[in-house]
Amino acid sequence: MLLTHWLATHCPAGPHFEPMTKVIAGLAKAAVQIASHARLNGLGGHDYGQAAGGQNSDGDAQKALDVLADQLIIEALAGGGVAAYFSEEQDATILLDAEAGLVVACDPLDGSSNIDTNLSVGTIFSILPATGDLANAALQPGRNQLAAGFFIYGPQTILLLTVGKGVATFCLDQDGQFQQLSWQPQIPETTSEFAINAAYQRFWPTKVQDYIAQLLAGKDGPRTRDFNMRWCASLVADAYRILRRGGIFLYTGDSRPGYAEGRLRLIYEANPIALLVEQAGGAASNGADRILDLQPDSLHQRCALVFGSASEMAEFTKQPEHPAR
Ligand code: F6P
Ligand code: MN
Repeated sequence: MLLTHWLATHCPAGPHFEPMTKVIAGLAKAAVQIASHARLNGLGGHDYGQAAGGQNSDGDAQKALDVLADQLIIEALAGGGVAAYFSEEQDATILLDAEAGLVVACDPLDGSSNIDTNLSVGTIFSILPATGDLANAALQPGRNQLAAGFFIYGPQTILLLTVGKGVATFCLDQDGQFQQLSWQPQIPETTSEFAINAAYQRFWPTKVQDYIAQLLAGKDGPRTRDFNMRWCASLVADAYRILRRGGIFLYTGDSRPGYAEGRLRLIYEANPIALLVEQAGGAASNGADRILDLQPDSLHQRCALVFGSASEMAEFTKQPEHPAR
């Protein structure tokens, strides 16, 4: 089934139905263009992995494809249905159609530090009802999301989408159309795979130190089985793998300056990933509280993010907090 047909038959009925189908179709249109730029990187004199010269509001160096992806999304959303656009790459809110009922928040190109290494990158999106002051309308808990998902630009360009009833998956075909896949992600409850950037080990809180030490002890430790580690440094790629075959992902706060709440952004990254993960039977928290219940205070707020297989999430959560040794 084509994405357009799926949207017409699966988006919830009500006032948001028409704008939502339009917005997701618009995001898909932008994703087709972004995928093509990512695929052709290096050809025609373009080097999209090059620094664009600027920094986003989080202090990350912007790549040329970060900026281009953001522009393509803005153009696609200007087609209607969206009151305001919130982007990891923009300091300020982009106000579009004040009469529209939806707002969209995006990480236009997640994992962009990997462009020049030909690794999977992606576009993460979150769709919320437009409420109150439009300039700050994305400051809502993630449980309010009407839809969320991500496009991943890898060997295949795939869309993972939820409109609140499970997760549907679509693959970009040769004709530039998203076709539904039979795969409906269901995260296995138990896992023996974990994802964390071990280079920061000495900065981790003791709870993370203790938990990872138990996994590394494998068969000889309290968990009595061996674990495997993967870290893509591309949230969409790590999330995709976990949605496919289970696992746990951790990017908590640590003691590096500026990393008290980790690195990932609540509105653009944690909320949409958390909704997908929950809709696929997994769990997502900041180590203590459910991500989807957090009230954002600011648009670019970072938050600790731990997500994945339900039983491993429970194992992590039950680790006692104790002061640094
Ligand atoms: O968007 C931030 C991001 O690039 C994620 O895609 C990824 O999970 C993380 O940062 C990698 O961070 P680090 O380079 O600290 O491992
Ligand atoms: Mn990102």
